[in-house]
Amino acid sequence: MLSSLSVISGKSSEDLARKLSKRIKANLVKSSIRIFPDGESKITLSGEISKKKSIVVQSIYPPVDSNLIQALSLISKARETSSEVIAVIPYMGYARQDREFLPGEVVTMKVLAKLFKGAGASKIIAVDIHSLIGFKHFTIKSKNVTAIPDLVKYLKKLSLKNPLVVSPDQGGKERAKEFAKEFELDFIALQKKRDRKTGKVEIKTKNAEVNGRDLILVDDMISTGGSIINATRFLKKQKCKKVYVACTHALLMNDAEKKIKKAGVTRIISTNTIPGKTSLVDVSNTIAKAIM
Ligand code: R5P
Repeated sequence: MLSSLSVISGKSSEDLARKLSKRIKANLVKSSIRIFPDGESKITLSGEISKKKSIVVQSIYPPVDSNLIQALSLISKARETSSEVIAVIPYMGYARQDREFLPGEVVTMKVLAKLFKGAGASKIIAVDIHSLIGFKHFTIKSKNVTAIPDLVKYLKKLSLKNPLVVSPDQGGKERAKEFAKEFELDFIALQKKRDRKTGKVEIKTKNAEVNGRDLILVDDMISTGGSIINATRFLKKQKCKKVYVACTHALLMNDAEKKIKKAGVTRIISTNTIPGKTSLVDVSNTIAKAIM
């Protein structure tokens, strides 16, 4: 029997879409993609789309622009049948381009706001968007959900020695605070200093009091791994024990994972907003709660 809800699975979020459809008892519509030699994506859907409501699930991780156009195409196609389309973008690519840092810069999140509306979405849901400023540009409804409780639940199962939550920088302080509160632990936020001439980043936190403790470095995302590597090197010099990394989105560009391990990280734990070796935590329940 056709459910009144359908989940349309984008290629970048197949696992999450399948799990989500089960949780909300929706009809799963799969997509297959053919990439032409010139890079164009050709998408074909299989399955029946609900006339009432569709939920398109597609993360925007690399190749970012291909995954973005696929998300918009799926929304557009869904809207031909469904009277309501919700876009679930577990990893919201471009979210760091949410304001004009330098004169002349394009605020890409503004462009995305127009594109998602134009394609036919009436609501957008993301998981741990880089900053809520990004959603201020949207005129359709928007919701950000956090994966922190899911990550904490996983980390609690590890036997950590006198653990402490650490943010690699002051920008992530609130996130680390929330993580520590959920875990019932203490937290610190490291302070970074960037040399304006060389661009070299140095940690200038004094007396981090991490000696002999296991640490959980918390961040929203890992891209090149630079932030985590700098923090880990500093914390290891302060004679901490093991360093675990908990992040929502592990992009792990190029050989980031190898470099992070080499810096001394015991394990990276991320979520299935971006599928990969480190995505050990499922966020489908958190997304389901935001939809129902
Ligand atoms: C910065 O504001 C973010 O929260 C992350 O710390 C950053 O984007 C991670 O990037 P990378 O892994 O390249 O240091």
